[in-house]
Amino acid sequence: MVIKQYDVYLVSLDPTFGYEVKKTRPCLIISPDDMNAYLKTVMIAPMTTKSHPYPTRASLRFKGKNAHICLDQIRTVDQRRMQKKLGSLQASATDKVKAIIREILEGAKSAGATTTEVPLHHIDMKGCMGCLSCRKTPGVCKQKDGLSPFLEAMKDCDGIVIGSPIYMYRITGQMKQFVDRCYSFYKDRDDGGYDCVLSPGKKFALVISQGAPDPEQYKKSIRWLAGMTGFGFGMKEVGRIIHSGSHENPAKDTKDLLKEANEIGQRLVAE
Ligand SMILES: Cc1cc2nc3c(=O)[nH]c(=O)nc-3n(C[C@H](O)[C@H](O)[C@H](O)COP(=O)(O)O)c2cc1C
Repeated sequence: MVIKQYDVYLVSLDPTFGYEVKKTRPCLIISPDDMNAYLKTVMIAPMTTKSHPYPTRASLRFKGKNAHICLDQIRTVDQRRMQKKLGSLQASATDKVKAIIREILEGAKSAGATTTEVPLHHIDMKGCMGCLSCRKTPGVCKQKDGLSPFLEAMKDCDGIVIGSPIYMYRITGQMKQFVDRCYSFYKDRDDGGYDCVLSPGKKFALVISQGAPDPEQYKKSIRWLAGMTGFGFGMKEVGRIIHSGSHENPAKDTKDLLKEANEIGQRLVAE
């Protein structure tokens, strides 16, 4: 049986204990394909059609029904508990930020730019190891991994687009790791502040996607992200998309949103 991440299987969860999710129900495979290919176990998140609005329950549409993924009930199960495949989550259910960023990059390309997409969740990226070598050699991060060439490219680029979904009330862990690694772009000042070593005149845009309908709900986290990855580098912001209520309005189907994204891409080049 070839099991893929983001497939949905009917899984027999019993026997269970206490408050664990019971019965045979659809479950989302969350373990990566490398693990699924070699182990006889898979990591699953049970799905339910009824749920309280906990932040740990991600809602989406599956097979025409509203479904909630119980991220608070993730568990590892033997593959023999899996009864049959029900389908897979569509790319639109896992890639809302990507859909918007792709459109911004399309806009930038149409205005003559060369673009590179850097999916932080796919590259082999380590966190900052706190070695502080960048205090001695600002601009150079000693940690060498899949992110290193892109940190280098940020020195030469004319603009960047930063995108993150909101996971568990904040930006994603991958984005925080990226921000930590960007410490290497800051040089200590004698007065305790920092100067950025990136050349001035670059531009940035920000994309956030969230399930919650109120675009103001995570404004502190979003303001912080804009500060750390844009304003702090002396960059000028050319646009910001807060895609809220993303489950009801998938980005790829929201024409106005994609039009705005494309225009932001053009502004990255033109302004
Ligand atoms: C692990 C996880 C945690 C989430 N936590 C929140 C949250 O705290 N608040 C919220 O509004 N949406 C939350 N969501 C919903 C996502 O922000 C939303 O589905 C977003 O559009 C996902 O974008 P993506 O498809 O690019 O990953 C969460 C989703 C996941 C998978």
